Amino acid sequence: MNSLKTKLEDRTATAAVIGLGYVGLPLAMEIAAAGFHVVGIDLDRNKINTLKQGKSYILDVAEKVVADAVQGGKFTPTMDFSTLATCDTVSICVPTPLSKSRDPDISFILSATEEIRKYLHPGQLIVLESTTYPGTTDELIVPELENSGLKVGSDFFVAFSPERIDPGNASFNTHNTPKIVGGITPKCTEIARLFYSAFIERVIPVSSTKCAEMVKLLENTFRSINIGMVNELALMCDLLGVDVYEVIDAAATKPFGFSPFYPGPGLGGHCIPIDPHYLAWKLKALNFQARFIGLAAEINGMMPSVVATMVADGLNRVSKAIRGSKIMILGVAYKKNVSDCRESPALDVMRLLSDKGAILSYNDPLVPTLRLGGNLLKSIDATPAEIAKHDCVIILTDHSTYDIGKIVQAAQLVVDTRNATKNIRGNKDRIIKLGSGNRVPSSSVHDDEHDSAPIRVIGRA
Ligand SMILES: NC(=O)c1ccc[n+]([C@@H]2O[C@H](COP(=O)([O-])OP(=O)(O)OC[C@H]3O[C@@H](n4cnc5c(N)ncnc54)[C@H](O)[C@@H]3O)[C@@H](O)[C@H]2O)c1
Repeated sequence: MNSLKTKLEDRTATAAVIGLGYVGLPLAMEIAAAGFHVVGIDLDRNKINTLKQGKSYILDVAEKVVADAVQGGKFTPTMDFSTLATCDTVSICVPTPLSKSRDPDISFILSATEEIRKYLHPGQLIVLESTTYPGTTDELIVPELENSGLKVGSDFFVAFSPERIDPGNASFNTHNTPKIVGGITPKCTEIARLFYSAFIERVIPVSSTKCAEMVKLLENTFRSINIGMVNELALMCDLLGVDVYEVIDAAATKPFGFSPFYPGPGLGGHCIPIDPHYLAWKLKALNFQARFIGLAAEINGMMPSVVATMVADGLNRVSKAIRGSKIMILGVAYKKNVSDCRESPALDVMRLLSDKGAILSYNDPLVPTLRLGGNLLKSIDATPAEIAKHDCVIILTDHSTYDIGKIVQAAQLVVDTRNATKNIRGNKDRIIKLGSGNRVPSSSVHDDEHDSAPIRVIGRA
């Protein structure tokens, strides 16, 4: 412990990061910037080759940062796990997706741990950063590592420290986002705290790995449930003829007890749609049903069909059907100003519309190509002339580069799922906005006495 402590204090430690994706690469760059030598290990040959050339494939990590780290000898990208033999710390940042049956797939964590066990040596610190269910670190990682014959807490140290990075966030990054650490033993927590304090502004120790795992799941389950609640509120507002965004913004003026969340076309990314299922799965094994998680997943999961219905309603106004209509999707990444399409609701919306016979195209300045089913689609230019050729455009992701005024001016029909058109004054009749109360005619409130539109029938008695 002492020698590792000294190496961390004088920055002579070598740190390994396993998995160089959205989480691992920014982390590796932050550790290198603090003066440590970092070994970055990934199974993806293309990523390793790109990094070796000093290039970046993550928008939030500038090319120059990678180039400087590689050329300055501070960062060594490799596919070779045997380099772990020379590393003092190992951070695991591999994916934790869901299996086809929507159960946790922790195979990436397990295979990384097997590799670490082969090269485990006294004084090493192992930290799991991948989001996972409570118990993964002490029930799976520690027993596998102790198969080496070394003992956790005395020979080597293990902690869980959830990654909280928010891709595309211009204010918060790895460096200034507070970091939670929970070790297997108090000594493990202390050494992990020391490691992160070297390159992260604020480190918060908690009492156990299980607590640290649960912190991450609370954060993301909180988001999933609040988004589910506000998506349901948007549907209510549509029926009530109230603009949900006006309601939320007014409620957000309350200086305590309220946090604004906004509706949208569904959940996306590698975290919010997935992580709560890790918690629900673990609890199911303990005979406990996580009901809020299930309900939020149900409501969030139906939002793509709500969008398809909005499109159908809009086209119906001008006597068109989805079948045969030309529909352009604006923004396919799962959120604003990022290029990540994992779990993006755009994929579900496009599948639904395609199944109904729509002729689809898409534009996303950050996603030049998109795989949908067996097809590789190419982003087309969203010029006014191109937009005008479409029967409908759907704003699924409101990237900052979109000129919404020009889009609305050129379009025949705009389905807005992100409140992107909030400042548009003219052409309101061609905009259908989620949660604005303008998508459902008042006759949808079923009151036989007060139907607003005359019923057109053949064969009136
Ligand atoms: N993306 C986010 O915004 C975010 C935020 C917080 C937490 N997380 C969590 O962090 C973890 C990583 O997510 P990500 O978005 O960085 O994933 P990612 O897919 O972008 O990156 C993971 C990398 O790990 C590599 N990899 C897979 N198995 C490996 C192995 N056995 N050895 C070495 N490399 C391996 C992959 O090739 C890939 O490059 C997940 O648990 C995720 O839930 C993600």
